[in-house]
Amino acid sequence: METILTGVRTNGELTLGNFLGAIRPMAELAKKYHKTHKINVFVPDLHTIIADVQGDLQANIIRSLKYYLAAGLPIHDNILVYRQSYVPAHSELTWILNCTATMGETSRMIQYKEKSDGGKETANVGIFDYPVLMAADILLYSAKYVPVGEDQFQHLELTRDLALRFNHRAGKEIFLPPSITSEQAEFMGLSSGLRIRDLQNPEKKMDKSSPNANSKIMLSDEPAVASKKIMSATTDNLAKIDYDMFNQPGISNLLQILSLLTDTTLENVTAVWAGEDSYGAFKQNVATVVSDFLTDFQAKYNSIDDKTVLDLLEKGEKRANEIAKRKLLEAQKAVGLR
Ligand code: TYM
Repeated sequence: METILTGVRTNGELTLGNFLGAIRPMAELAKKYHKTHKINVFVPDLHTIIADVQGDLQANIIRSLKYYLAAGLPIHDNILVYRQSYVPAHSELTWILNCTATMGETSRMIQYKEKSDGGKETANVGIFDYPVLMAADILLYSAKYVPVGEDQFQHLELTRDLALRFNHRAGKEIFLPPSITSEQAEFMGLSSGLRIRDLQNPEKKMDKSSPNANSKIMLSDEPAVASKKIMSATTDNLAKIDYDMFNQPGISNLLQILSLLTDTTLENVTAVWAGEDSYGAFKQNVATVVSDFLTDFQAKYNSIDDKTVLDLLEKGEKRANEIAKRKLLEAQKAVGLR
């Protein structure tokens, strides 16, 4: 049985970018494949502590898992839910993979460069080692598909490289390399990786850690507040509505959001608005769609109790430990530790 796996850091509230890039695709894939695939939804709490945590980490974890359930993640024996730090094999395999990964590889990671402010002396080592831990998260469970946003594709490529190198040195297939990124996108039903943009600066991705509240829609935003954020989103003065990320990133981002939230293809959404030469009605439509989505999603979220999540974690962590320990032992044997 193939495995589909993903995780979202829980430093604080999550954004519409996290939802559209990872949470919803995972819930949709789980609905479609849970009878034929293993589905792992885990919380990378060790990745979370590389940066400040807003609020209580445990509360953030529960909230993030409720988001998957509110997005339609079924409850089924083939679906494992667990916290990374409750499965020590993640940390142990990271050390072994640290001895496979090179300094050059990890320092080339875009996220490392951004988060460490170009590799500053004061950046913590966790930020540097982040992609190796991510590789361990994936390789321990032989995950073939890893639904993530486009910003994480470079880490998936590194995971593949590490798996192939480790196997080559071991002289046998210990790790399953995850599929190449174009296949990952295809598996999610996309032509390429998804990147929802910052509403104020559409050159950048919508980022939960951005200090500007107007740049991002949070899943907990009051629908009316979110609507205002869309109305004040940066666009351009080209007076046309076209999907053109290069010349019209702001408008294209809104088209993208509209397409995803209305389950309509980008071509169709764009065709509806082509020919408009002012942006008011278009923005109003996106604002309404976003605020209706939040109203509905938050009602679903509020109907889920903590106990449902805690029960899933208890069961999931036991099984995840069994699976992860087996793969860790194979890796330990391959390098002579056992
Ligand atoms: P994190 O917490 O930064 O982001 C969680 C997920 O949300 C996606 N995402 C976006 N997608 C589209 N547009 C955006 N603006 C946007 N912002 C965030 C991210 O691509 C990601 O899928 N390294 C991961 C967590 C992780 C992980 C793993 C994921 C750790 N180990 C193993 C998969 C498998 C991360 O930083 O996610």
